[in-house]
Amino acid sequence: SDVLLLNGPNLGILGRRQPEIYGTDTLEDVERAVAEEVSARGWRVVAEQHDCECGLIRAVQDNYDSVGAIVNPGALMIAGWGLRDALANYPRPWLEVHLSNVWARESFRHESVLAPLASGLIAGLGALGYRLAARALVNTVE
Ligand code: DQA
Repeated sequence: SDVLLLNGPNLGILGRRQPEIYGTDTLEDVERAVAEEVSARGWRVVAEQHDCECGLIRAVQDNYDSVGAIVNPGALMIAGWGLRDALANYPRPWLEVHLSNVWARESFRHESVLAPLASGLIAGLGALGYRLAARALVNTVE
């Protein structure tokens, strides 16, 4: 069984992207941490990062048979309606993760079009948020 780890635009350069906001862990570090956590259930990680929405939508569509998902949509949180529709058809629990505390930042980051569909949301805990999301799936998914 696989857990889908989905990262949106500008998250491929994690570690080198405004580290004062997003930290110094790379996406590879994040993928390794999530893999480590979900191995407790014998699950593997399918990690997908795309800078545009179409790749993310395709990744969701291609992984409707995964056990759960962790999604950091990046700026697509604001108006990623196509990604939202893809996730609306995702049959398993999924969690939204933001590295930064989006509510402590500009007001255009204060609403996510995806969050109402998520089982839960973690924001502001940096890369640790992904690890905690993975742990949540490990502990809650049937
Ligand atoms: C982010 C927050 C978004 O507002 C921003 O556009 C990102 C990263 C985060 O992880 O804190 O790309 O999703």
